[in-house]
Amino acid sequence: MRLLILGGTWFLGRALGELALSAGWSVTTFNRGVSAADLPGVQVVHGDRERPEDLKRLAEHGPWEAVIDTIGYVPSQVLTAATALAPVVGRYVYVSSVNVYTGWPDEPLDDESPLFDCPPDADATFGADLGYAGQYGALKAGCENAVVQAVGQERAVVLRPGVILGPNEYVGRLTWWLTRAARGGQLLAPGPAERPIQPVDVRDVAAFALACVEDGKVHGSFNVTAPIGHATFAELVDTCVAVTGADTVPVWADPDWLVGRGVQQWTELPLWRTHRGVWTVDSSRAAAAGLACRPLRDTVSQTWAWMNGGGSPITGEGEAGRAADHGISAAQERELLRTWLQES
Ligand SMILES: NC(=O)c1ccc[n+]([C@@H]2O[C@H](COP(=O)([O-])OP(=O)(O)OC[C@H]3O[C@@H](n4cnc5c(N)ncnc54)[C@H](OP(=O)(O)O)[C@@H]3O)[C@@H](O)[C@H]2O)c1
Repeated sequence: MRLLILGGTWFLGRALGELALSAGWSVTTFNRGVSAADLPGVQVVHGDRERPEDLKRLAEHGPWEAVIDTIGYVPSQVLTAATALAPVVGRYVYVSSVNVYTGWPDEPLDDESPLFDCPPDADATFGADLGYAGQYGALKAGCENAVVQAVGQERAVVLRPGVILGPNEYVGRLTWWLTRAARGGQLLAPGPAERPIQPVDVRDVAAFALACVEDGKVHGSFNVTAPIGHATFAELVDTCVAVTGADTVPVWADPDWLVGRGVQQWTELPLWRTHRGVWTVDSSRAAAAGLACRPLRDTVSQTWAWMNGGGSPITGEGEAGRAADHGISAAQERELLRTWLQES
């Protein structure tokens, strides 16, 4: 099997490359070669997704049975890439996001929920009035349209992951909780402890994407999350404490109290969000097509092992800053804990 990965050096792209190589596939990766080392064993084509001439040059290295595009954020760029690659790839797998749904994160979602409306040739300015998450989602929806326009419905596979966790995560979500748990003491945990969560492991997303490619007939769109109720916030926090081996004691604070104190959801306490649609994404279509999700404790323990065994492949600038945006300071946490314990 010959596979092309657009991206391929950070997180999901890297997991895709590792898994495909371990299955004996021939893998080509396309990226600029500036922010991380390429995977040993892949054929490397360096170039910029923003330069049509680089995409034309990439196409000359084909054909491939499939391309998996992990780096599409702007519809007009994805349209250029998919149009250049259409004659030399079989299936085009586009990694989208649950953000394409207008109802996210406020409403429960399934694969047929309403999408943002964005043309396939939109540029990066589209949806500027929608706020950061809305614009991201609208542009991803436009990218999906671009792929379908370029290669047709029958050859297009659209994957819409929710939150992805696991080794090589660079966003700073699970890595922050693990780092915090390892520090010990009383840990401010956002209640309720039994809140269901459904993050998906990066290696499970990769395995599902490769299965879609291997099948050769799968097409259409799939929500790619762990099943609803896969785990709870308490399992996340308790497993972080257990695997780090620290004498850390979670103190569960009322979510409305935290909101009232101005604690920023999603970033200051990563993965915590009170909106009712965040962890109610139905992914049964993907499960029926073969998505299998490992227990959260495996994701947590293997991410901790990775953090202690060499860390991120990313060497270039930019993404370290994103992780630094996550979490609260020790002083802020201490003050919140003091007030919560006093008032409760
Ligand atoms: N993380 C989540 O929770 C989550 C959730 C839902 C959906 N997603 C989606 O999953 C995908 C995440 O992929 P990943 O970040 O893990 O991908 P990745 O493929 O592992 O890494 C990103 C790649 O993009 C390359 N790149 C950056 N700018 C480029 C450019 N101008 N031209 C060519 N290559 C460029 C980088 O290399 P160079 O810098 O060297 O070029 C790097 O190889 C995204 O599409 C995201 O929307 C993520």
